[in-house]
Amino acid sequence: MAIEKTTDAVVLVGGQGTRLRPLTLSAPKPMLPTAGLPFLQHLLARIGAAGITHVVLGTSFKAEVFEEYFGDGSKLGLEIDYVTETEPLGTGGGIRNVLPKLRGDHAMVFNGDVLGGTDLGAILDTHRNRDADVTLHLVRVGDPRAFGCVPTDADGRVTAFLEKTQDPPTDQINAGCYVFKREIIERIPEGRPVSVEREVFPSLLAEDARVYGHVDSSYWRDMGTPEDFVRGSADLVRGIAPSPALDGPRGESLVHPGAGVAPGALLIGGTVVGRGAEVGAGARLDGAVLFDGAVVEAGATVERSIIGFGARIGPRALVRDAVIGDGADIGARCELLRGARVWPGVTLPDGGVRFSTDV
Ligand code: GTP
Repeated sequence: MAIEKTTDAVVLVGGQGTRLRPLTLSAPKPMLPTAGLPFLQHLLARIGAAGITHVVLGTSFKAEVFEEYFGDGSKLGLEIDYVTETEPLGTGGGIRNVLPKLRGDHAMVFNGDVLGGTDLGAILDTHRNRDADVTLHLVRVGDPRAFGCVPTDADGRVTAFLEKTQDPPTDQINAGCYVFKREIIERIPEGRPVSVEREVFPSLLAEDARVYGHVDSSYWRDMGTPEDFVRGSADLVRGIAPSPALDGPRGESLVHPGAGVAPGALLIGGTVVGRGAEVGAGARLDGAVLFDGAVVEAGATVERSIIGFGARIGPRALVRDAVIGDGADIGARCELLRGARVWPGVTLPDGGVRFSTDV
């Protein structure tokens, strides 16, 4: 039987997403709108396209939101089960916790915040051909220093798990997608927090388990920070990142139904304008992500920033590399630059925050 048919997908979506606050105060990270869909929907579409039909979501933080949106999964051609941790069990504990729902001999486990373009079927083939206990998707990146590196030997067998280092011995990093034999999941300690990266994988290596890497150079982005979220969203809009959940041609911007864009507004760099959002005349949006109902007034500039649900950017304001929380109100001519995060509902008066001295 094809390995896809005896493989469940497990998606870990229980994290708090602290690095994306304040957006993750109201929605879990995998549900944040990305090119018009909850981020997780892009991943679920890839899982379905690979021929896996049974998906278990390991939830914790804001668990109810997932089931409310995806239900039994039938609209996506999937069968979705939910397992909720009352106390977060970490990435390894989360995998162990879904064991009662697994039906097959293997489970393909995903971090729920990775935007990827790899061929999932090819990872399953590697797993089967090597008769591996665990197969990890490893992706080659230009600068591996910010990630855990995973070297492999000539046969593709994993030799070590290395923490972030300034001098990485390989450009292969852990891409947050693994195939486990069911027996290996059964051996993860139950009922306590366990990290798959720091505990499960190192102990498997120590006992000489068959841990293999499937290495490629596919599209890959961890959407955990505002900078990556903005880039990943823009890549989806422009077609640089693949997603079977999006159809039709892709371009420099994506404007959703019910949004209003005034003549003379410039939308470039993979900008997304959410449902019911408004963009005023002469506004310049470059790589901007406007959630539903957000408003950017005339002459304002928004670059590489996320504007939360119903937030308003006043006339001639400048928002660059920043995150604006839901319902915040940024006054005219304010300037919010790199790293600024405005909490939901906060009002900044006209001209109230500036980096320059002109009035
Ligand atoms: P930060 O707080 O910003 O680091 O984000 P995070 O909480 O999502 O953590 P991280 O990015 O390291 O998590 C990687 C993936 O594992 C994400 O998809 C998380 O939703 C998921 N995850 C993290 N911790 C847990 C957990 O305790 N339980 C479950 N079920 N999933 C988790």
